[in-house]
Amino acid sequence: MKNASTPPKAFDNALLGFDENGTPFSGLYGDVYHSIAGGPEQAEQVFLTGNSLPERWRSKKHFVILETGFGLGLNFLVAWKAWRGDVRSSRELDYFSIEKHPLTTGELGRVHAAWQKFHPLSEILLRQWPPATSGIHRLEPEAGLALHLCFGDAAALLPVMDIKADAFYLDGFSPSRNPELWTPEIFRSLARCAAPDATLATWSVAGHVRAALTAAGFAVEKHPGFGGKRHRLSGRYRAA
Ligand SMILES: C[S@@+](CC[C@H](N)C(=O)[O-])C[C@H]1O[C@@H](n2cnc3c(N)ncnc32)[C@H](O)[C@@H]1O
Repeated sequence: MKNASTPPKAFDNALLGFDENGTPFSGLYGDVYHSIAGGPEQAEQVFLTGNSLPERWRSKKHFVILETGFGLGLNFLVAWKAWRGDVRSSRELDYFSIEKHPLTTGELGRVHAAWQKFHPLSEILLRQWPPATSGIHRLEPEAGLALHLCFGDAAALLPVMDIKADAFYLDGFSPSRNPELWTPEIFRSLARCAAPDATLATWSVAGHVRAALTAAGFAVEKHPGFGGKRHRLSGRYRAA
């Protein structure tokens, strides 16, 4: 990352709550953090399978994931568990995630308590959880794995990021409630950060999202969706 002059600031609180099904919910955005049909399963199907993982990290020594919206850290925990359990995985995994409204350790602990299958990984993550100050916090939850938590607005941070990502996780709240994470400018920044064979995945198949991703240089296609959703989206960067 080049010098991002992001002065320390207090972040707006995400106003974490739970809907009638017990699904974590942001009062600030009026939307759930993951599918009501199951968070871990959605993360596996939409983001891992959507980026052809674990297969794709097997062919690289060093693999880089870039996510818009760290939220509860569920996608990260799913990726970490799959990577460490895969004897043929890349030797190194760098996971960059941008988050404008970091949750507190207490809030994350409350949500993670429901996911036994991620213990003890979630405890390791929470022990290292940084203070909510803007900028990049580099965590090393285990040898070979770096989590770069980029606290701030993706619209400000992405243009100054200097990385080459192999896989993108597009996981803002719904484009109607969180339009600033699904703009042509955001997607152009992602394209600039794309390794030549980069892929992307998201659960949104909104027409304007597909059009803006295509204009930014990604070839996208729909696949059968998770839970109640008819489709999810996968894409591949078409290097110029
Ligand atoms: C659906 S949640 C992400 C869920 C997450 N990927 C997980 O695995 O738990 C969307 C996240 O995007 C964050 N967000 C919304 N607008 C943002 C912005 N402009 N920049 C960075 N993060 C943003 C929200 O605070 C929220 O945590």
